[in-house]
Amino acid sequence: MAVEQTLSIIKPDAVAKNVIGDIYSRFEKAGLRIIAAKMKHLSRAEAEGFYAVHRERPFFGDLVSFMISGPVIIQVLEGEDAVAKHRQIMGATDPKKAEAGTIRADFAESIDENAVHGSDSLENAAIEMAYFFAATEIAPRTR
Ligand code: PPS
Repeated sequence: MAVEQTLSIIKPDAVAKNVIGDIYSRFEKAGLRIIAAKMKHLSRAEAEGFYAVHRERPFFGDLVSFMISGPVIIQVLEGEDAVAKHRQIMGATDPKKAEAGTIRADFAESIDENAVHGSDSLENAAIEMAYFFAATEIAPRTR
């Protein structure tokens, strides 16, 4: 399996719940390495830009308002099959449909406030990583 990098965001609801450490621990236990990280309170323009692909969807305004309602933690995760592995640990977008033991099943309240974001493809991972991190801020494993 190939070593990949993916972008992860711990959303404002999970930051407010004080479960950052628990979520990081799940990444590490799954073999995902945190190779870049920052806490940031997104501006409206930053959130709109990040979710621009969803601009025409009915929930776009609510999604942006939620994402700027408090600080988020943004990280790059690296590991074998990282994109799919991260999505698996996150669980389904709607926490009601998320498998037991996933981050969203354990911490998310609703589809509007669903605790975490993860890139959905390798191609989008590269775009999303570049949106939030300069190449010099990412420290890939060297050995
Ligand atoms: S996916 O995986 O991108 O196809 O998921 P999708 O269902 O298309 O949702 C895209 C992002 O929009 C969020 N979302 C919503 N926000 C607010 N209200 C409603 N109803 C809603 N439905 C979906 C969803 O959490 C995805 O956000 P991210 O940050 O990408 O997980």
